[in-house]
Amino acid sequence: MKYETLNDTQIPKIGFGSARLGGRFVGGILADRSHDEFFLAALRSALNLGYIHFDTAELYGGGHAEELIGRAIHESGAMREKIFVTTKIWPTHLAYKNVLRSCENSLRRLQMDYIDSYLIHWPNPLVPMRETFRALNQLVKDGKVRHVGVSNFDVKRIKEAQSLSETPLFANQVPYSLTRRSHAKDGTLEYCQQNNMLLTGYTPINHGHIAVEQTMQSIADAHHATPHQIALAWLVNQPRVIAIPMSFNPSHQKENLDAADIELTPAEMNQLNQLG
Ligand SMILES: NC(=O)c1ccc[n+]([C@@H]2O[C@H](COP(=O)([O-])OP(=O)(O)OC[C@H]3O[C@@H](n4cnc5c(N)ncnc54)[C@H](OP(=O)(O)O)[C@@H]3O)[C@@H](O)[C@H]2O)c1
Repeated sequence: MKYETLNDTQIPKIGFGSARLGGRFVGGILADRSHDEFFLAALRSALNLGYIHFDTAELYGGGHAEELIGRAIHESGAMREKIFVTTKIWPTHLAYKNVLRSCENSLRRLQMDYIDSYLIHWPNPLVPMRETFRALNQLVKDGKVRHVGVSNFDVKRIKEAQSLSETPLFANQVPYSLTRRSHAKDGTLEYCQQNNMLLTGYTPINHGHIAVEQTMQSIADAHHATPHQIALAWLVNQPRVIAIPMSFNPSHQKENLDAADIELTPAEMNQLNQLG
């Protein structure tokens, strides 16, 4: 496994996404406990394979994703300091008191006493960012949050967040994959790289639908890999980029984790860059 190291923290290039864990969509995401055994088995398999970064959010499964992740980690007996948990505050909870309450709720559901990386899930122009960061700075001082970050932010908003955060912004989580590159084109990726911040690529394998044409297949064959692995390798071969594919299938989970070890040549990176 390859890692990124920043702000004295090592984080693996591949983490575990959890958007569909523990919930169902009924005019909003609600907890659904009827598949808990399936999801817990998927989490156990991920932990056994060596996943240590779990990405979640108070939104996912109406909070139940955090509960399942917390339970699986707790029951695995893994040492807390060996695990890295990212969770996110929903944009309607960005006022000072709401951030503090959301954090307490996430910690309770995760059965943890600190969050490794706490992100603003989406910007909310109706709440002054200053107010949100007053709460986030407080949570860092109180030891409840190790690193703060953002998600779905453009460069203008990242700069505002940086000016308000008392600790270096850790990550910006955005859609990034071979098929979705708007954040590379608009300068967000370059800004993160220059400012020592992670760009965490979400939906990194396009919900499992990778276009497999000749170039992709030849590169996959050359590395005895699958096209999904090459799509992930293309991401994590870029500096300061990590990816958080979601899979509940143990063989996909292993494939995705192993993708971090694929070294693409500069020529292969160029060929993949040309794919539309
Ligand atoms: N910050 C945000 O606003 C935001 C938004 C969206 C997502 N996210 C985060 O990013 C994570 C990942 O994004 P995503 O869930 O949207 O999409 P994704 O990871 O690109 O795709 C997930 C789908 O791909 C399939 N899959 C996974 N590995 C595979 C493989 N090796 N071969 C074939 N199929 C494979 C999975 O099915 P199987 O289970 O069958 O493997 C699943 O259906 C989310 O879970 C969430 O944590 C964040």
